[in-house]
Amino acid sequence: MGARILAGAPAAQAILAQASQRAVKLPDRPHLVLVRAGTDPASLSYVRGKQRHADIAGLRSTVHALPESVTLPELLALIATLNADRDVHGILIQLPLPAHLPVALLQEAVDPRKDVDGFHPLNVGRLWTGGGGSDHPLLAPCTPLGVLALLRHYEIPVAGRRAVVVGRSDIVGRPMAAVLLGADATVTVAHRQTSDLGAVTREADVLVVAAGQPWLMTPDMVRPGAAVVDVGIHRIPGDGHQLHLTGDVHPEVANVAGALTPVPGGVGPLTVAQLMLNTVIAAERQID
Ligand code: GUN
Repeated sequence: MGARILAGAPAAQAILAQASQRAVKLPDRPHLVLVRAGTDPASLSYVRGKQRHADIAGLRSTVHALPESVTLPELLALIATLNADRDVHGILIQLPLPAHLPVALLQEAVDPRKDVDGFHPLNVGRLWTGGGGSDHPLLAPCTPLGVLALLRHYEIPVAGRRAVVVGRSDIVGRPMAAVLLGADATVTVAHRQTSDLGAVTREADVLVVAAGQPWLMTPDMVRPGAAVVDVGIHRIPGDGHQLHLTGDVHPEVANVAGALTPVPGGVGPLTVAQLMLNTVIAAERQID
């Protein structure tokens, strides 16, 4: 039997609807500022997508497109200005940045209340303490929150289940583990150095693959009936000269898994929808 296909769009629409319903209750329309540097084509297209979804959700957005040669002091000065501007509610520094710029230092410069990516160490710490010690709703990374929303939308049980996350990036793998732990899963994080990866992934009732390697996950590595979430997206040569989009999960996993997200059209729409909701949450927190 083929896996149930978990399309991202219906779950993303529900998140966008929630963002716009909450946005209209605020004194000012939430304002998201996107900071981008250089000419990376994927970054350009992601920023355009984020602006389009800000429009859909009824949010304001502004892009600061900086040259590849932008210096650290120039970027820090821009972030300081945006932090101080009461008309800016969310700040996102689009990755990847040009190689000469220290990403962690720039992320730490963003006011944690405006950190809609959830990458500031204060927000990372709050996520790993289950939001403990904070009276405010959590700003957590968009892709992991989007994956949890997708699982909830399709009523896939997480609490008490075995979850395996493949990949330990700061953007997806690590915060994904924290989000699943917060949802009461028993969580294992596998990575490049994991020996016998298949033995670990076959334990999973819920398998989230964010390794950045096309078709890493093959059918023999998946427990029959498992829910598999594919966070990877790769452009590989297809028929003729066409480029074909594919994920970290081999298509034949659909013959083994109980449920599987497609690529494209799975996790992608959720990340950007969650960014809009994070911007609304940030704006709600900034009301006097
Ligand atoms: N580049 C790839 N994913 C992300 C993300 O979640 N946030 C930012 N800022 N840049 C990215």
